[in-house]
Amino acid sequence: MAARLFLLLSLGVLLDLHSTHGAVSWGIGECPNGAKPGDSWYIEGQCGKCDCREGSYSCYSCGAYAIDFDVNMCYHYRDSTKQYPECCNPIVRCRGDVGFNETLFQQFGGVTN
Ligand SMILES: *[C@@H]1O[C@H](CO)[C@@H](O)[C@H](O)[C@H]1NC(C)=O
Repeated sequence: MAARLFLLLSLGVLLDLHSTHGAVSWGIGECPNGAKPGDSWYIEGQCGKCDCREGSYSCYSCGAYAIDFDVNMCYHYRDSTKQYPECCNPIVRCRGDVGFNETLFQQFGGVTN
């Protein structure tokens, strides 16, 4: 009977997935929730995706975007109903655009002073 050595490394370095700076988390060892190498899954409640590989996994979330728009007229938001990476894409709405929402503009755009 072959002796089997299980080395369970739990270097669960979990960086802040809530940041908007392309945070990446990763782990060495078995993938969580029974995922197998080659599997991918989306991060619950966040815009992000994880890939399982042999012996490790890594997760990605949105990177930082530099978008140019008139803050006096526009706001931007992300569509959290979409899956990664579509949910990362900033959507810009400007006064006069279809779907422009004054409430969101007050919240996310404009210069508040
Ligand atoms: C604008 O956004 C607010 C906040 O999300 C929402 O409650 C409201 O229904 C929206 N208004 C329109 C016209 O879509």
